Amino acid sequence: MKDFDITVHVVVKGVNELTDEELRLVESAKEATFRSYSPYSKFSVGAAVLLDNGVIVTGSNQENCAYPSGLCAERTAIFYANSQYPSNRVSALCIAARDVSGAFTTVPITPCGSCRQVLIETEKRGGKDIRIMLYGTDAVYFIESARSLLPVSFDDSFLK
Ligand code: THU
Repeated sequence: MKDFDITVHVVVKGVNELTDEELRLVESAKEATFRSYSPYSKFSVGAAVLLDNGVIVTGSNQENCAYPSGLCAERTAIFYANSQYPSNRVSALCIAARDVSGAFTTVPITPCGSCRQVLIETEKRGGKDIRIMLYGTDAVYFIESARSLLPVSFDDSFLK
């Protein structure tokens, strides 16, 4: 028998330690939470995608009374970015969320499995790591790539 461990490297920064570019992305993700349509969960998520041309595209979670028909903020933003700017690489993604109280979460929220799967494909398509920033009021997590968020994942190599 053999075994192996896979570790994820997370850099934790305070909001006061962010660069101007990082702050711009955080502010965009925070603003996007106010465009969330989340009458069912009352959990408002915003995502901001930075493209290699400097453009920031945002998205928010869009719910539906048929619950599975809704979509997370990350995929809303990524699909919008890929459909409007198919030739521009996604270089970074930031997410932020406000809970039922309306306040931003103190601890960063993390993308769901389906969003991670979509992020990995977008990363492969662009050919370079997507920097992931997860915003919380007490800490901001930095993860170096989408790939590292979903180890041992399914990809198109299995289809060949
Ligand atoms: N949600 C997101 O938009 N992104 C995440 O990373 C986690 C969850 C949404 C889905 C649903 O509208 C609400 O948050 C509660 O799960």
